[in-house]
Amino acid sequence: MGSYSSNGGRETPFLLIGNPANKRTKGLQAARSKLGLAPAVVLSYEQLLKRNVYIQDVLQQMTGGGEIIIRLDAPGEDQAVERELIAWGAPDRSGDDVFWSASSLPERISISATDALALPLQHGRIYYPAQWYRGYCRFLAAMQREVRASKIAVRWVNSPGSIASMFDKRSCWQLLSRHGLRVPALPAPVGAVRSYDELQTAISSSGMRRLFIKLACGSGASGVIAYQINPRTGDELAITTIGIEEHAGSSSFYNAGLLRHYREHSDIRQIIDWVCREGAHIERWIEKDSFESKSFDVRQLVVNGEACHTVLRLSSTPITNLHLRNERRMDIDGILSAEVKQAVKLTSEAALRAFPGSTAAGVDVLVQRGSGLTYAIDINPFGDLLYGAEYEGMNTYEWQMRELLRKE
Ligand SMILES: Nc1ncnc2c1ncn2[C@@H]1O[C@H](COP(=O)(O)OP(=O)(O)O)[C@@H](O)[C@H]1O
Ligand SMILES: [Mg+2]
Repeated sequence: MGSYSSNGGRETPFLLIGNPANKRTKGLQAARSKLGLAPAVVLSYEQLLKRNVYIQDVLQQMTGGGEIIIRLDAPGEDQAVERELIAWGAPDRSGDDVFWSASSLPERISISATDALALPLQHGRIYYPAQWYRGYCRFLAAMQREVRASKIAVRWVNSPGSIASMFDKRSCWQLLSRHGLRVPALPAPVGAVRSYDELQTAISSSGMRRLFIKLACGSGASGVIAYQINPRTGDELAITTIGIEEHAGSSSFYNAGLLRHYREHSDIRQIIDWVCREGAHIERWIEKDSFESKSFDVRQLVVNGEACHTVLRLSSTPITNLHLRNERRMDIDGILSAEVKQAVKLTSEAALRAFPGSTAAGVDVLVQRGSGLTYAIDINPFGDLLYGAEYEGMNTYEWQMRELLRKE
């Protein structure tokens, strides 16, 4: 692959906000090197969150008068960053809540900033997801404000606001629906169900007996429940990665590595009450299409408005995220018909148009069994870590770097 020159030989500087040791950072740098581009300047979430470094200062050092590209990458898989984000969202910390849609953070689901910074962080345990999300929203708002104040021209790969709304499944559903996309029906208005009992009321009035109940601000199948109830017998089944741990009379919740099947009413009530307290998105369970008796969804990457890399995720469970030992297939031609492939492409591209501030995201598309109708159900601002996926002979990072250059 040859090197590309742009701007009459001057490359647009590229700032990457991420976790430096993470595979994402390495993947992006490798792609830049392969395309003959200078390495991205990497600014760590940890330094920014601890206020050891300010983004304006870094932009000042980088600027040559032209535009700077800024990519915010995933903040996950770093304990110091996780603690900082929970602390940023704490009720005793002030912050800019422009991107945070809830009005308050109830006491039962929050901790002080000091306690957040001292969290032991056991592996897998889900800590204060609503507070984490508020912290991330405050951080995103701070980045946006500080970049604006610097008066330096920047181009965000995904704007702070678009990332914030993609991260909240409630606002995501609303945006997609407002943009005319087909979305799974809801048993009750967005965000209305706040407990297990309210869920049962919504089930009775909507007649929907099979639902997906999700932590509104979760990702990676964290806090996702496939739930069904038999109206005649009242028997329930909840399939989820959520594990419950009892400790000194109180329960905590964690991501079990594999799916669990809960049938006990008291367990199910406890899990659903917790998800609802933290903020739930609840929608109809769409019967997914299957291949070789495994159901699947499609992770479709969209860059600059165009669908590119496609990964099929097949599972013998209702939840297809790949880290749950599900199967990935890249040879979609033999699996999806030309019509379905086209529908997935159009659906994912239409989904991105609902987020004008975003130029790269991975859309999870469901294909309904029988009807072949497509649904965009999850928009991932960092959905480009797709091992082995190729498009026009390039991996996801190489493709994005090439697209940036082409745009210039
Ligand atoms: N409404 C739904 N109907 C059927 N399957 C669903 C539905 N919502 C989610 N799923 C399944 O659960 C997985 C995880 O849900 P998703 O909304 O993508 O959350 P996450 O952000 O945790 O990935 C999806 O990839 C899909 O396999
Ligand atoms: Mg998903």
